[in-house]
Amino acid sequence: MAPVRNAKVIFNEIPTGYPEPGKTTVYDASSTIDLETVPLNGGVLVKVLYLSADPYMRGKMRDASIVSYSPAYAIGKPVYGFGVGKIVRSESEQFKAGDIVHTPLLEYAEYSIQTHLQYLDKVNPEPGLSLSVYVGALGMPGKTAYFAWKEFSKAKKGETVFVSGAAGPVGTFVLQLAKSSGLKVIGSAGTEEKVSLVKDLGADVAFNYKTTDTEEVLKSEGPIDIYWDNVGGSTLDAALGNAAFHSRFIECGMISGYNNKEGVHMKNLMNIVARRISMNGFIQSDLSSTWSTEFNRLVPKKLVSGEIKFTEDISKGLEKAGDALLEVQTGKNNGKKVVLVAED
Ligand SMILES: NC(=O)c1ccc[n+]([C@@H]2O[C@H](COP(=O)([O-])OP(=O)(O)OC[C@H]3O[C@@H](n4cnc5c(N)ncnc54)[C@H](OP(=O)(O)O)[C@@H]3O)[C@@H](O)[C@H]2O)c1
Repeated sequence: MAPVRNAKVIFNEIPTGYPEPGKTTVYDASSTIDLETVPLNGGVLVKVLYLSADPYMRGKMRDASIVSYSPAYAIGKPVYGFGVGKIVRSESEQFKAGDIVHTPLLEYAEYSIQTHLQYLDKVNPEPGLSLSVYVGALGMPGKTAYFAWKEFSKAKKGETVFVSGAAGPVGTFVLQLAKSSGLKVIGSAGTEEKVSLVKDLGADVAFNYKTTDTEEVLKSEGPIDIYWDNVGGSTLDAALGNAAFHSRFIECGMISGYNNKEGVHMKNLMNIVARRISMNGFIQSDLSSTWSTEFNRLVPKKLVSGEIKFTEDISKGLEKAGDALLEVQTGKNNGKKVVLVAED
């Protein structure tokens, strides 16, 4: 068989602010691959179907000398992240051609050779759900919400939770878990459309943090017993200022600081002491061994039945991937941002 195109999205330059498609990430359609003869070194050849565009990927676009929880991308090499693909050829007994697989290490490319087979999971597609859900509500963002809510919230009926970034895949999942536990839910998001979604999903109070003062909302609707933090910065400070005694802060992400190095002046840190606040930062994989069995047993059915709702925002074509990575940073995405590379 003649070689076929293997387009890729290359990490080209470290961004100083937001990632810039065409500059810091570059779509390159010049490579080819011979699907029958390319060496696999004991691994598998995967045809890429769906790629996840996630906020944390901005943190990997850094100087490799800066240590963080996830390795930096290498300049000149493809960006990679969570994704779903189909095995074309396998040199491993664990996998065969046609298997659908999921991995956190899928290259932003049309085809990817995977040799770290310990990270490759076989997917048994849940009838009634698209494969894209395995990078969203049934994938890393859904697990983030479920695992950390179960681990840290200590939620009690009648309590009040504030969820920032409430319209994204993590936030929407959290707010539904909170509602189903009988909590009053306050959710913030950055557009009117997102605010409507947050209301439709059951939030008691939903507001646009760009046009409404978070501090004022929390003052009138709080104090808050639980804060699910997706954004950090001044929103976190407002939550600290309106926290109940013995409240729990679940520190999931701080996207307000991902694209700038300016810190914010925090006025309410002393409340951590005075109000006996517990703060738990986490990375979802830390909690997998405790919660993934329960997640896999319960959540797929809840998604199929509609008991837990999710929204997706799909960009079609690998050439759109650079824009997709930018959109999750700027808030242009409406729902889980997924890049559809190939249908099958
Ligand atoms: N700890 C973990 O293991 C883990 C795992 C997954 C995700 N996370 C974190 O969870 C958070 C949500 O992830 P997601 O996948 O659900 O993302 P997402 O909602 O799909 O996308 C990120 C959203 O952040 C909002 N945003 C951007 N800049 C902001 C700013 N300056 N202030 C406030 N909001 C801002 C935007 O929505 P608006 O239009 O509403 O501004 C954007 O759509 C992120 O911080 C992510 O890093 C953590």
